Amino acid sequence: MLSRIVSGDNPVYSDSEGVVGLFEVLKVLPTYSSLHVLVDSNTAANCLPVLERSGVLKNASIHVVEAGEGSKSLASSAHLIDRLSQSGADRSALLLNLGGGMVCDLGGFVASIFMRGIRHINIPTSLMAMVDAAIGGKTAVNHSGIKNLVGAFHMPEAVFISSVFLKTLAYRELRSGFAEVIKHALIGAGPQLSELGHPIEAVSSSWDEIIAASVRFKSSVVASDPTDRSFRRILNFGHTIGHVVESISLENGGLPLSHGESVALGMMVETVLSHRLNGLDEESMLNILGLLRRHYPDLALPPMSEEWIRLLQGDKKSDSGTFRFVLLSEIGRPEIEQKVDIRQIMGAVEALSVLERRVSSHP
Ligand code: GLY
Repeated sequence: MLSRIVSGDNPVYSDSEGVVGLFEVLKVLPTYSSLHVLVDSNTAANCLPVLERSGVLKNASIHVVEAGEGSKSLASSAHLIDRLSQSGADRSALLLNLGGGMVCDLGGFVASIFMRGIRHINIPTSLMAMVDAAIGGKTAVNHSGIKNLVGAFHMPEAVFISSVFLKTLAYRELRSGFAEVIKHALIGAGPQLSELGHPIEAVSSSWDEIIAASVRFKSSVVASDPTDRSFRRILNFGHTIGHVVESISLENGGLPLSHGESVALGMMVETVLSHRLNGLDEESMLNILGLLRRHYPDLALPPMSEEWIRLLQGDKKSDSGTFRFVLLSEIGRPEIEQKVDIRQIMGAVEALSVLERRVSSHP
């Protein structure tokens, strides 16, 4: 059944039964001259057939890019622009982005610049994209080794979420997106924290409600600060340290941590900082650490090194030896622009390893 979980100019729809609801979503849009679908090599194989079987893509042109972060580039953007042009897209064309964060970011970016902007609909297929990347109009590609260096704010005409796509995901991908769900519960009125303590396999029976709560929360934050000038930055909780951890794991070779896994580790450190510097009470800190460790028992922070400092300094939230963090003063009460220095970060990382022993004996 199709339900509209967020109303307004950029509605978000959820279809718990499949994808036929997309017919209704397309029906209420002002007419479009041609329909285009961006997929990557994974969603071409696993998700596109679901839409094709439903018949909703009649006469659509399909554009495929290689799966992976490497496709989030200006070169892929140029390729997609050529493909759109060759297949007759004009200013009234509609682009459907069927995929995870990379597809939504790349497709949204191309939609923002093709003929000065065309409409797009995000159809996220990963949990991460459903609760974060597809929502809020941030579009970008990477360039010169810098993530999201080139981009634009370009709101999707609509977002269509179907939890059937989650069935195509490996457990590791699910728990990566789950970190953003936990983040929403920690920084505001997202899903109830108490609902998120069960194993992810058990939580998955209520995906539709959890996703809806998470999406409503993120949409409300975006509505109050669409261009990320202030309040929207609460969404960066866990991301300052998460970015350091993710970058180090990518540089180290081997199997890198996913974005969500890195954010989970980042939230652990930033929770300890919130307790030490921002009044978060000890009980709440231990509860948060316990919840995160239940879902991410195997993850380890990389050892403190010069690299941490270099990466923190490269972070745009830094100025003269202090770094700007989002810290909690209570669960559900984040504060942006909290100044933290490197000694305090090192102290929190050390304290975390001691606290972990208490967390494992905490009920
Ligand atoms: N992913 C954070 C934001 O959309 O602002």
